[in-house]
Amino acid sequence: MNGGGTGVDGGARIRPMTFADVPAVCRVGQRAFPDAWIASDYEGELGQPTSRSWVLVAEGDIVAYLVASRVMDELQILHIAVDPRAQRRGLGRRFLAGVLGEQRRDGMALATLEVRASNVPAIGLYASAGFVQVGRRKGYYRNNGEDALLMNLEPTSGSEGA
Ligand SMILES: CC(C)(COP(=O)(O)OP(=O)(O)OC[C@H]1O[C@@H](n2cnc3c(N)ncnc32)[C@H](O)[C@@H]1OP(=O)(O)O)[C@@H](O)C(=O)NCCC(=O)NCCS
Repeated sequence: MNGGGTGVDGGARIRPMTFADVPAVCRVGQRAFPDAWIASDYEGELGQPTSRSWVLVAEGDIVAYLVASRVMDELQILHIAVDPRAQRRGLGRRFLAGVLGEQRRDGMALATLEVRASNVPAIGLYASAGFVQVGRRKGYYRNNGEDALLMNLEPTSGSEGA
């Protein structure tokens, strides 16, 4: 997924996140998350050799981002956020499908993630991409003691991304 990026219906394009994107990514994160990362968090992640992170660009603006880490044939999704002004239009689903499709073509055999048990929109998004719950970590989130659901996307499940 290099060069001009990968298309998503509606004219949005997926391309790899760069350090120059971090200020705009922070703005989206702050609007989307109560406990969003700060710039150095994204920069630290982008600096890792395992980092695989993308942005979704529509009409020149970053409207969503996805931060992940790839080790061997496994992709761990750390964050996905869609700007609240662009949510509920199918962008999250198409962005995630695009990333997963590209990663499958690049040999991904398993995708994993953790999500707050109360995060109904995110759980719905991941389920719609074919993720299934494989476990639960009791009291995982330190700020409120909330459980984490562990979700996996196995090789043959989920929709093929664009
Ligand atoms: C989760 C998130 C990325 C979804 O993005 P989105 O572009 O609004 O999602 P889509 O419009 O593509 O919806 C895809 C599916 O997600 C689920 N979903 C999305 N928003 C939802 C909501 N508010 N309530 C319930 N389900 C929701 C639904 O299953 C939906 O499918 P449907 O439209 O057929 O019902 C977005 O809500 C977000 O950025 N949330 C804040 C950040 C966050 O919590 N990220 C996940 C943890 S890292």
